[in-house]
Amino acid sequence: MGIDTSCDDTGVGVVRGHRVLSNVVASQAALHAPMGGVLPESASREHLRVIDEVAGEALARAGVGLQELDAVAATRGPGLAGALLVGLGYAKAIAWGTRRPFVPVHHLEGHLAACFAEPGGVVSDAANAPPEPPFLCLIASGGHTVLFDVPDYGTYLRVGGSRDDAAGEAFDKVARLLGLPYPGGPALAALADAGDPGALALPRPMARQQGHDFSFSGLKTAVATLLERDPNVRPADVAAAFQERVTRSLVDVSVRAAESNGRDTLVVAGGVAANRSLREALRSSGLRVHVPPLELATDNGAMIALAAVIGSTRDGFPDQAEALAVDAAPYLPLADAPSRPRDATRR
Ligand code: KG4
Ligand code: ZN
Repeated sequence: MGIDTSCDDTGVGVVRGHRVLSNVVASQAALHAPMGGVLPESASREHLRVIDEVAGEALARAGVGLQELDAVAATRGPGLAGALLVGLGYAKAIAWGTRRPFVPVHHLEGHLAACFAEPGGVVSDAANAPPEPPFLCLIASGGHTVLFDVPDYGTYLRVGGSRDDAAGEAFDKVARLLGLPYPGGPALAALADAGDPGALALPRPMARQQGHDFSFSGLKTAVATLLERDPNVRPADVAAAFQERVTRSLVDVSVRAAESNGRDTLVVAGGVAANRSLREALRSSGLRVHVPPLELATDNGAMIALAAVIGSTRDGFPDQAEALAVDAAPYLPLADAPSRPRDATRR
C-alpha cells in the first residue's frame, strides 16, 4: 500500500508487483479553490480528516485486507511539512501495527515509478513495456520541473531544471490571470482547445539559450502584460499560445538534454505529463518516449507503492529502526538523496 499526502490530494493505492489494484484520490480542490491556492494548514487538517476513509476504500477496492499487505509506503518529501506528516504518521502506524516493513519514498521517485505500471488492474492505459535505463527523465509537476539522467535504476544525475517557476505552477498562475478556477492546469488545457496557438506573439522561453534549463516566469509576465494592454484578447488564444510555448520548451530542452547525454529514451512524469498537448508534442520528438497512464500522472498513492516495489526489489526493505524514524522532509533533492542502506531485514 502506498500513501501520498505531499500537497492537496490524499492518495492511497494498493499494488501487486507492478499492477495497480486500487488507486483512491480524495482531492482538496474544492476546499482550496476560494483561496486560489493551497492553504497548508487546511491541507494538513483535511488529510487527517479523510485519510482513514481513503485507505479503507483503497483496501476494499483492491479486495485486500490489512493483514495481507506485504509493506506500507508513504511519501517522506518533498512537499508541505504538515501534509507529509499525516501520511507518514498514518503509514508508520499501519506498518508497525501489522508488523510489516515501512518504506519511505521520495515523491519524485514516485512520479517516475508511475511509468512502470503494468496493464491490468484499475489502470486502463498502462504501457506494455516499462522504460529501461539508461534514459533521460523529465519530471514536470506543480512543485518541480527538473531533468535527470538515469544511467541505472535508483541513480539520478541532475542535468537541468527550471530557474524559476515549475511548469505546473506556471499553468496555475496563468490560469489565475485568465480567471480560471483552481487548480488551473487542467482548466487552462481545456480552454486552449478552443484557441489558436499562433494568434498571439508570446515569447519562447529561453529561446537563445542552448543549455538544459527552463524558465517560465518571463512567459507568465508576458501574459499578464498582454492581458493588461488588450482586454479584448481572446482568453482561449492566450491559453493555447501559452500552452504551446510551455510544451514546446519542455520537449525541446528535454530532447537536447537526451541527445547531449547520449540517451534515446525519454521518460516524462509529474502532473503536467497529463497534458494532452504535451503528450502529442512528445510523439514527434524522435525519441522513445514513456509517459505515465493519465490517472497516475498527478499525485496519487499507487505511484508511491510502485516506487516502493521497485526500490525494495532492487535493494530489499530498508532498516526498520531507521525507516520508522524518518521525518517529513519538505526540501529533498532527488539527485542528492542518500542511497538507502542495503538491509533486507523484515519485521
Ligand atoms: O504532480 P502533481 O499532481 O503535484 C505536484 O507534485 O506538484 O502536479 C500538479 C500540477 C499542477 O500545477 C497542475 O495544474 C498541473 O500539474 N496539471 C496540468 C494538467 N493536469 C495537472 N498542467 C497542464 N495540463 C494538465 N492537463
Ligand atoms: Zn507530485
